[in-house]
Amino acid sequence: MTDERPHRRLADRSPTGSPGGGPHLPTAVDGEEGIAALTESNRQLKRKIFDLYTIFEISRNFNALLDYHTLLDTFLLTSLAQVGAERGAVYLQDSDTENRFVLTKKRGSGKFPELKHAFTTASPLADHLARLNRPELISDILQHITDPAEREIIENFNPGLIVPLMFQTNLTGMMILSDKVSSAEFTMGDVEFLSILGSQISVAIENSRLYEAETKATEQLRAAQQLLVDSERLAALGELSAKVAHEVNNPLGIIKNYMLLLKRSVADNPESLEYAEITSQEIDRIARIVKELLNFHRPKKETFRKTDLVQVIEETLTLLKTRYETQDIKVVTEMEPDLPTISASPENLKQVIMNIVMNACDIMPEGGTLTVQLKREDMWLVLSFSDTGPGIPDETVPRIFEPFYTTKEAGKGTGLGLSVCYGIVKQHDGAITYRNLPDGGSFVIRLPIPSTEDTDE
Ligand SMILES: Nc1ncnc2c1ncn2[C@@H]1O[C@H](COP(=O)(O)OP(=O)(O)OP(=O)(O)O)[C@@H](O)[C@H]1O
Ligand SMILES: [Mg+2]
Repeated sequence: MTDERPHRRLADRSPTGSPGGGPHLPTAVDGEEGIAALTESNRQLKRKIFDLYTIFEISRNFNALLDYHTLLDTFLLTSLAQVGAERGAVYLQDSDTENRFVLTKKRGSGKFPELKHAFTTASPLADHLARLNRPELISDILQHITDPAEREIIENFNPGLIVPLMFQTNLTGMMILSDKVSSAEFTMGDVEFLSILGSQISVAIENSRLYEAETKATEQLRAAQQLLVDSERLAALGELSAKVAHEVNNPLGIIKNYMLLLKRSVADNPESLEYAEITSQEIDRIARIVKELLNFHRPKKETFRKTDLVQVIEETLTLLKTRYETQDIKVVTEMEPDLPTISASPENLKQVIMNIVMNACDIMPEGGTLTVQLKREDMWLVLSFSDTGPGIPDETVPRIFEPFYTTKEAGKGTGLGLSVCYGIVKQHDGAITYRNLPDGGSFVIRLPIPSTEDTDE
């Protein structure tokens, strides 16, 4: 493929063409010609000082800017403004697009290349730019481009300029500028300016990437530590609750038996019988709480068997259908096909699903949507329940799995539902977490897929 466009050259800034774009100094100051030359040389010196000052100011800003995108934006806008180009784009390699330089930032007016077009890091063009290590006119570079997608991008900016971005000896990306708004040619001064700016930005980009990676790693570490602290705290609470529950359980059994005897002895006194009845009901309530507390610590040992989670979800949702439909709650299910079975207690998992769906119903009294999703991620089945309710204040999220944590009014909730869910999921060697979404919240349960995938216990 040959380039039909007129082949451009770099224009010197001085009318007489001083090599390297440096100021042209007249050899003899003679008359009007000499004064004109001196004035031009003075103009060039001023421009150079201005360029250097701009570079100095920008470098200072670059070092202070740690946000990657703001950094690129500043770089591109400054380059466009300084050389007067119509539009420009920065192509960079990132962790998701390992062997390609992709369009990361664009600025200016006019049509830009499509996003899907990218440069490969091992192309002849990349090789050429890395060896060159300075800006080059597009017309001079076209011969090095063999790939049609790369050619498409470059043609989009022709006649323009390409600035390699180098970190140490590696090409980390490139900035491409289109021609000038004024249609004037690029000057050696422009090239010098962009060359210095390009090397400054390359270092700043690497710094901001390192900073971002470090921030992300710190955040992950903090989250992992929090998870550990949370699970330790819940384990300690479980231990304590179980001890209390055991202690309460024995006298409770005795009280229950005596209540039966008492009821029999007051059978002919309706008033006393009614009091005994109420006492009995309250004793049953205590017994339920005690049972759930024990479930939180160590859920009832059901036999684990080959379980189709899709079926468990569907059966539980059918049971709750009347409850959520009368409340104007739309339940949307999105389940991946052909999921493997897991080794589980379907009864206990049903209880988990029921607790979470009931909570969602309680939190959306005016109606809303509950999306139930089931998918596979490596060796896990990931089940999520996302509601369009008000979410949970960030500071209380770590407390929701604690026994007796409730925001419901007295008599409406004991705050044991999620603790029991937590205990059951742990019993399955899984994990349950909650996170707020932009418009609601989401409970995510991860359950392990057995390595043989069809174990029957
Ligand atoms: N989907 C949700 N959106 C917002 N908050 C929720 C949601 N699910 C639970 N919560 C909060 O977590 C608290 C604890 O829930 P949990 O199920 O453990 O107890 P409860 O529903 O209050 O009482 P119980 O389940 O024992 O009747 C709730 O009171 C509520 O504040
Ligand atoms: Mg509940």
